[in-house]
Amino acid sequence: MNAILTHNLTKNFGDIHAVNKLNLKIPYGKTYGLLGPNGAGKTTTVRMLNAIISKTSGTASVGGYDIVAESEKVKMICGFLPESPGIYSKLTAREFLEFIGELYYLPRDVISTRIDELLELFNLEGRENDLLEGYSRGMKQKVCLCAALIQDPEIIFLDEPTSNLDPAAARMVKDLISVLAKKADKTVFICTHLLDTAEELCDIIGIIIDGELQVEGTPKEIVVSFGAKDLEDAYLKITGASHIDDLLSWRNGNSNNRKIESKKQKKLRNSKKKSR
Ligand SMILES: Nc1ncnc2c1ncn2[C@@H]1O[C@H](COP(=O)(O)OP(=O)(O)O)[C@@H](O)[C@H]1O
Ligand SMILES: [Mg+2]
Repeated sequence: MNAILTHNLTKNFGDIHAVNKLNLKIPYGKTYGLLGPNGAGKTTTVRMLNAIISKTSGTASVGGYDIVAESEKVKMICGFLPESPGIYSKLTAREFLEFIGELYYLPRDVISTRIDELLELFNLEGRENDLLEGYSRGMKQKVCLCAALIQDPEIIFLDEPTSNLDPAAARMVKDLISVLAKKADKTVFICTHLLDTAEELCDIIGIIIDGELQVEGTPKEIVVSFGAKDLEDAYLKITGASHIDDLLSWRNGNSNNRKIESKKQKKLRNSKKKSR
């Protein structure tokens, strides 16, 4: 059985085809990375799969439950970290997590034990009784991840989990996701712009452009089939980013600076040589 199964899943916002005939088949225990440029339809996809917005057409089941007919069940078995999560600043981390736990109808003693476990895992012990308004962005993101995990979901959706974080906080969140992804019984669905994160963590990658899935496979399969150096190289080829060589040689550092010289600069240098 598949954790996530969609058939021609489609969402239109008026004339905008945000997601167009998406077919996904994600087995349990896998980490799936949905990649794509801004506006490609990633957030719309995870919002439909979490029964937050309705689909226009097609079908989908998550954990074996239909996203429309059994939307309550879908919500109970899924953890979701939204792209821009809302938190209540005037609550402490513990109060906020207790509130989320109660939304899942968890018994109080279970909530309390889960919160202790999560605070320890996320290194938030000692700060749990501080108001969230005093937390740094990285700490808030950790609390939101705790909230997504409080009911020990089978299937976890993470929408851009490291965006807006500084490099150290992003690294920390990435390491936590890695711990989750390695737990064999968890299915993780992650939308990210971080190609190295995706390459490292994901068993399967899908690349979506303008609402349509263009490529799907293991990171290795995608890299090989596009004759690319790594997933970033393949992604740039697939999404048609211009000046790929320039971008990559710039990234490779100063020794390759000659390569990123623009045509205009080259012309200028040659004309200077001639005039000498
Ligand atoms: N609530 C909405 N109303 C109208 N258009 C929307 C809405 N949500 C998303 N869109 C549009 O759907 C497309 C896909 O958006 P989104 O799923 O947020 O992309 P991504 O997460 O890949 O950046 C974009 O063109 C976006 O403007
Ligand atoms: Mg998005």
